[in-house]
Amino acid sequence: MTKIAIDGPAGAGKSTISKKVASLLGFVYIDTGAMYRTVGLKAVRCGVDTNDEKGVIELLPSLDIDIRHEGVEQHIYLDGENVSDQIRTPQISMAASNVSRIPEVRLAMVDMQRKLAQNHDVVMDGRDIASYVLPDAEIKIFLTASVDARAKRRYDELLEKGENVSFEDVKNEMIQRDTNDSTREFAPLTIADGAEVIDTSELTLGESIDKVINYVRENIK
Ligand code: DC
Repeated sequence: MTKIAIDGPAGAGKSTISKKVASLLGFVYIDTGAMYRTVGLKAVRCGVDTNDEKGVIELLPSLDIDIRHEGVEQHIYLDGENVSDQIRTPQISMAASNVSRIPEVRLAMVDMQRKLAQNHDVVMDGRDIASYVLPDAEIKIFLTASVDARAKRRYDELLEKGENVSFEDVKNEMIQRDTNDSTREFAPLTIADGAEVIDTSELTLGESIDKVINYVRENIK
């Protein structure tokens, strides 16, 4: 099975680009952030503070997460309900970042991620895919962009969805998540050995996609 790992901070364009690469190659796209978001949603729904490590760990035995694929789209289910849209709010972004600091949560998610990669050719996006989940991935890409560029993209996305947010709030939340995700002790956001760093700050989405696809085509065996 071939594995392509695409890591990077929020808003770097990972999911759009990963989906495109997966669809061109006929691989399965796996969005690992959605898994941490679903754990965050579970905690919020159960009234558990996402910074309460013990409280979140207690939820794990009854956690029922299911992932289904429809073409290149990934749908994620929590307790039998499709929550793919509900996990995309700013509140759940922070909740995901908080629960993802907890090693027990990460180990449970990593186990699911590795099983998925055993049975399919995958493009997997996240924070620790090349450094921890799939260290033997054939292709490792670290996609990044300046915080202003990333915040602007996320802000535009939220406005398009009709969310009432300010650019400053989106940017501050992004800075907080970056810090949270890169300073945690267990499997933090990091550039893995051998990863190709691609900065998309000055690129359009189309240019970013072309750059990643060219790199993949030149390096895939
Ligand atoms: O990619 P995303 O924004 O949907 O991820 C949401 C949060 O989940 C992110 O802030 C950190 C966490 N995450 C992680 O710790 N490891 C991953 N492989 C993917 C996401």
